[in-house]
Amino acid sequence: MIDFKGKVAVITGAGSGLGREFADIASSLGMKLVLADVQADALERATDELLAKGSEVLAMVCDVSKGAHVQELADAAIARFHGIHLVFNNAGVGSGGLIWENSEADWEWVLGVNLWGVIHGVRIFTRAMLECAKRDPSYRGHIVNTASMAGLLNAPAMGVYNVSKHAVVSLSETLYHDLQLVGAPIGASVLCPYFVPTGISHSHRNRPDELKLDAAPTASQMAAQALTVKAVESGKVSATDVANLTFEAIRNEQFYIFSHPQALGGVAERMDAIVHATNPPDPYAATPHVREMLRSRL
Ligand SMILES: NC(=O)c1ccc[n+]([C@@H]2O[C@H](COP(=O)([O-])OP(=O)(O)OC[C@H]3O[C@@H](n4cnc5c(N)ncnc54)[C@H](O)[C@@H]3O)[C@@H](O)[C@H]2O)c1
Repeated sequence: MIDFKGKVAVITGAGSGLGREFADIASSLGMKLVLADVQADALERATDELLAKGSEVLAMVCDVSKGAHVQELADAAIARFHGIHLVFNNAGVGSGGLIWENSEADWEWVLGVNLWGVIHGVRIFTRAMLECAKRDPSYRGHIVNTASMAGLLNAPAMGVYNVSKHAVVSLSETLYHDLQLVGAPIGASVLCPYFVPTGISHSHRNRPDELKLDAAPTASQMAAQALTVKAVESGKVSATDVANLTFEAIRNEQFYIFSHPQALGGVAERMDAIVHATNPPDPYAATPHVREMLRSRL
């Protein structure tokens, strides 16, 4: 297990929501912080607050969908702090609507941030951490990838997001097995939150111009957006709660991290359908009013 004090934590999406909370806990544990976000003003605010708490901070505006940016982040972290111990591949964005209505730009944007961001993070930081381990026999590291319950379930009208998060679960499980295979002193976890009040339902704020919507949103996209705003804003488990249980999982070297274990019944039903080759279970069995609300707006 990592002894956090004096070690280096890299956090992507550190300007808001879960990433901001990871940074607070890492700071309170005496870690040195490498903060990355594509939203410069949020990153600057977070940096000022964490410097005021007495933390050592390296902050970089970084678009995780771009490998060169993530490489620069890793190089800067090593140059400044000479090591990387804890990595949160956390930056993410959301987009909804019927799956055939999403544009190529929707797919590029969401998969770029949610999947390629984690691919680059795993590709680049794992190698950098293995180099650290070669230099220090007592080295311990840990990587946390933020997926979602949408990486284990497939709610309707969330296809692009579902695909990105299922891929992150797969990538993370494989990372876990590969690290075990080579006996690396690096742990891995996948965080699967359900709805938590953060800025995620307003992620279009950071959508790059070249991948902007080229047409007005469809009815299903507007309905999915309204549903997401409502679900996220009424979430009862806070981002602070999720960050606390994530650090507890890192301490316990626990791979799967769930913010809402009560939602796992749906995962069990889905797995049961897979192993028995029955059709996917009704995602609205317990909430038919949600289906009716969505249908009425299509
Ligand atoms: N909040 C929820 O209900 C929920 C549920 C499941 C999963 N998640 C996941 O949690 C993670 C954190 O999201 P959050 O809920 O804290 O939302 P958030 O919007 O509050 O924070 C996400 C951060 O990522 C940053 N970001 C966006 N695009 C980026 C890019 N290209 N490069 C670097 N940074 C970028 C944003 O600027 C923002 O600061 C995401 O991966 C999200 O998919 C959130």
